[in-house]
Amino acid sequence: PVTRYYQFELKIVKLSPDGFERPVWTVNGQYPGPLIQANKGDRLVINVTNNLGDPSTIHWHGIFQRETNWYDGVSGQTQCPIPNKISFTYNFTLDQSGTYWYHSHFLSQYIDGLVGPLIIHDSEDPYLNSYHEDYLIMISDWYHSPSGPLLVQRVAPGYKGFNPYPDATLISGLGQYNCSSPAAGSHCNSNVTIPTYNVQKGKKYRFRIINTSAYAFFTFSIDNHPLKVIEVEGTPVKDTDAAILNVIPITVAQRYSVILTADQPIANYYIRASIIDSCLHNMTNDTINYNSSINHNATGILHYLGAGSNESTSTAYPITFPLCQDLNASAIRPYKDSPAPTNITNDFVFNITFSRNDDDVGLLGVNDSPFVLVNDNPTNQRIMLKENYTDFDKNQNIYSYDIPYGCVQITLLNSQSTNHPFHLHGHSFWIVAEGPGAFVSNITTYNLENPVFRDTTIVPAESHIVIRFLADNPGVWSFHCHIQWHVGMGLLAQLIERPTEFSNRTLPDDVRALCMEYNSYKKQKR
Ligand code: C2O
Repeated sequence: PVTRYYQFELKIVKLSPDGFERPVWTVNGQYPGPLIQANKGDRLVINVTNNLGDPSTIHWHGIFQRETNWYDGVSGQTQCPIPNKISFTYNFTLDQSGTYWYHSHFLSQYIDGLVGPLIIHDSEDPYLNSYHEDYLIMISDWYHSPSGPLLVQRVAPGYKGFNPYPDATLISGLGQYNCSSPAAGSHCNSNVTIPTYNVQKGKKYRFRIINTSAYAFFTFSIDNHPLKVIEVEGTPVKDTDAAILNVIPITVAQRYSVILTADQPIANYYIRASIIDSCLHNMTNDTINYNSSINHNATGILHYLGAGSNESTSTAYPITFPLCQDLNASAIRPYKDSPAPTNITNDFVFNITFSRNDDDVGLLGVNDSPFVLVNDNPTNQRIMLKENYTDFDKNQNIYSYDIPYGCVQITLLNSQSTNHPFHLHGHSFWIVAEGPGAFVSNITTYNLENPVFRDTTIVPAESHIVIRFLADNPGVWSFHCHIQWHVGMGLLAQLIERPTEFSNRTLPDDVRALCMEYNSYKKQKR
């Protein structure tokens, strides 16, 4: 194992990912941000210098941060934000492998571009010799205006509309906006390259697919090429027929690796990422959020070497799975038998709730507790300083669950007509039940034998999901909907895992120093 050093400068630059120019929040001026690659067992040391003009943090999505909870990157829970002009170094080892990503975890900042891929190779990957080339595809929705004002509008008193609808769809940071549309303005370039992936007939390729969207669920497919799913968020998949799919649904923040066999006639084939519009419902009624003036389908090209540069004439697969219901690919089983633990020691029921406060602002929460962010006094530092906190933490208006070692079960009940992709920090979890009905009494069957194991799950509208995980990682872990507009409305909780053990660890000096920097930055701002 080695230590790998990266330098991140966070800065705002003007870019035109889909042709439309806008200020983009970037790492090193790039969108998407630079690829981080390492081997299992390596240490990552990432020095982040913030030149955004606003505070920021970086979260390493899916990385367990064993014994380094304070580098998890969650503003107000695991660290203070990095003020403008200040540097902070994340430093953690990788005991996992597979496909991950990183993004800002400060307010809704990642919508504006602060995302990038993180890939961990593994010499024991059972599929290592099953492909010739390792390709990366990032799928994303994309907005033309900065997210700040959009979020202000979303949480304005009396607002009863939809989440902001994206203006574009991107594959690997590239999209095709129609520059002749009246909204395009003068800084629009209609010649954005189509992302192209070269293959040689007869060979096999691994594609890693990451949905870095703020809001949209996608289907992913490559015309004429069924895709064999070999990895779900770090877990290799059983080598069975069940894992071969024509169309793969992928919700916000989920990842898959697939193997494509280049066995078709030499030609160009479309790679497609399409928004699943039928899954984007309004919170309070059953209407679907839809904007016909945008391109809902991002395209790329699978180019067989030897094919001309002429356009593809391939046609898309029809979509056959029940939309919005089973977006977890729950038919896909982990490679190694991975039965869910059965001796439940903590059994939680989380209702996803919508409410309006006294100002008529629409808020989302877990068990009627919309999260209120307090940046300058992160929960983990309060625990380490042995400050008092109660089960219901008045400071952040969230539940703080003191979890001892054991098996945690969380039943998520979603009685709303909208879907929520939930992500747990610090763990992957078994999905032991899912189905229609938002009451505990609707849960009839559990699959404990070899359920899918991942770190992000859809909680479909009017449905339930039951997850289990082992409390083997003391720390403060965020548990939230990954739709960034819903995070902005409060749909984020925190689990405090084994606080007594956690409080006996030693907080690195630089993590505490960052809070002092942040507090003096806040005073200057006042
Ligand atoms: Cu991908 Cu809490 O985040």
